[in-house]
Amino acid sequence: MSIMKILKYPDPRLRTVAEVVTKFDKSLDNLSKDMLETMYAENGIGLAATQVDFHIRLVVIDISEERDEPLIFVNPIVKVLDNKSLVPCEEGCLSIPGASVEVTRPDKIQLNWLDVKGNEHEDNPQGLLAVCIQHEIDHLQGKLLVDYLSPLKRARLKSKATK
Ligand code: NI
Repeated sequence: MSIMKILKYPDPRLRTVAEVVTKFDKSLDNLSKDMLETMYAENGIGLAATQVDFHIRLVVIDISEERDEPLIFVNPIVKVLDNKSLVPCEEGCLSIPGASVEVTRPDKIQLNWLDVKGNEHEDNPQGLLAVCIQHEIDHLQGKLLVDYLSPLKRARLKSKATK
């Protein structure tokens, strides 16, 4: 396993839309393990493949206090079950160090995904896990936390990031 380099905003590669995973081989398994190691090394709770310059639909998450509940999501798809139950949350991002942005997202979602072997799974995550998975799926679409800011605040953050 090895720690990977995380792309930092405003690197244009963070805007790449990720491809659907179709090969469930050893390299997918290895990449997800390296991503978990990288996420733990950086004290993050989630990491999308996009952030380590692999443009496939792969996300790793661990929201546990003990940092011992690694989750891997391949081709995750979120379906909003109730678009009136919105919850605001202060979110950070390993690709935008120091930034904290309040984002309001649906709390009642259905999540479908595959594991690294290609088996199908479904769950209805809530709370922090629901927030985190939606944040990571944004990455797979090339979308970043800064996109939720007003143009003025985004310009300020960008000038700070490029200094
Ligand atoms: Ni992020």
